[in-house]
Amino acid sequence: MDTYIIDGGERLYGKLQAQSAKNTVLPLLAASVLTDEQVKIRGVPTITDVENMLRILTEVGCKIKRKSDCAVIDSSNAVSHEIPPRLTKELRSSVFMLGSVLTRFRRAKISYPGGCDIGLRPIDLHLAGLKRLGVKITEEGGYIECEADRLVGAEILLDFPSVGATENIILAAVKAEGITVIRNAAKEPEIVDLQNFLNAMGANVRGAGGGTVVIEGVKRLHGIEYTPIGDRIEAGTYLIAAAICGGEIEINGVPPENIAALLHKLRENGCKIHTKNDKIILESSGKLKSVDLVETTPFPGFPTDLQAQYSALCCTARGTTLVVENLFETRYKYAGELKRMGADVTVRGRTAVIRGVEKLHGARVTASDLRGGAALVVAALGAEGQSTVIDLSHIDRGYADFEYKLKKLGAKIRRVRI
Ligand code: EPZ
Repeated sequence: MDTYIIDGGERLYGKLQAQSAKNTVLPLLAASVLTDEQVKIRGVPTITDVENMLRILTEVGCKIKRKSDCAVIDSSNAVSHEIPPRLTKELRSSVFMLGSVLTRFRRAKISYPGGCDIGLRPIDLHLAGLKRLGVKITEEGGYIECEADRLVGAEILLDFPSVGATENIILAAVKAEGITVIRNAAKEPEIVDLQNFLNAMGANVRGAGGGTVVIEGVKRLHGIEYTPIGDRIEAGTYLIAAAICGGEIEINGVPPENIAALLHKLRENGCKIHTKNDKIILESSGKLKSVDLVETTPFPGFPTDLQAQYSALCCTARGTTLVVENLFETRYKYAGELKRMGADVTVRGRTAVIRGVEKLHGARVTASDLRGGAALVVAALGAEGQSTVIDLSHIDRGYADFEYKLKKLGAKIRRVRI
């Protein structure tokens, strides 16, 4: 099993380019089956989630070429409407394929994407939206079978601004007859990027980033070449690492407004942050003060995907921080591991009370999910002594070249297999 050995205490200095956003590349790959022409996506990060999505595309009949950091998808021979069950288990976001496969084949079959390390992850909002578009859905033996002789535009109101449900409905509506309006839609930057990608293919999608998305169905979509937006969660993770360790880093490729909520908190913690276009420069003494409260909410609020990493920062900020996780039921699994490093964290349900201590000390800790694993790494970077972070399979799902980029900033980190 792959493991990090980290010698903490090094300050971080240098510049990084953000990878293309994992949570944009995944729906874009799903959208590539909407045309039988070639789609080229540049800057595709080498992470497990992307590799699994490419495997799903291959299994439905697409031809995939990887040239350096580009992925070229030719779905002219795509034939299967069945998304392979073993890959759905590996990759929850394969559920995005429902909308695009339905548009392509008018049929789709997927095994129920179960919960994962951070919560139940229901898809009721996805299915309710598809039904509004005329999709007949049967759920049997752990499978979801969808059929739609016609996809007809409709008014849809989401009970919750779900990112995945918003994306799935857009993918099912882009070639539907008439107009679809999604109210209470998710506003994440990744939705705006999906809109831009689809419109570049000839679709007619408007309003992404606001609460209401309007999709006018078109007859045909053509192939394109496209560069996705930078990964705001990856960038936020490195900014938090530098805030914890002290030093000065510059991240390029992510517009500051895409992680404004994090930057606001880091300034309150005492970091100096300068921004220009899609450049973010953070300076930290490494001696931070705590903020009273951090609540995760849908965009533009504090992102749930940075909750774990930010909680690691709170462990050595002067004062007490109340963290409230409003999106997922079990997103504090990393807390017990931080306590092994000397953190003072008390978790009750969706709330964590974190009392800052002077320093964490190195320990042997185990990652149990993607962002929780990243939290253990940033905590270890700031800790005194050596830490071992076990089971990097989670981190490898979402961070390309993680140890390489951290080493470039001066961190003492190496990957070993034990
Ligand atoms: C996307 O997941 C992201 N994944 C997640 O990032 C991110 O945490 C999440 O959005 C919130 O921002 C991708 O984009 C691939 P949701 P998604 O639907 O679409 C409830 C990471 O670390 N809900 O917005 O699954 C759900 O239970 C990952 O990169 C329903 O109740 O998130 C949750 O409480 C983790 N019914 C809340 O909505 C539904 O049908 C937010 O889920 C769908 C969701």
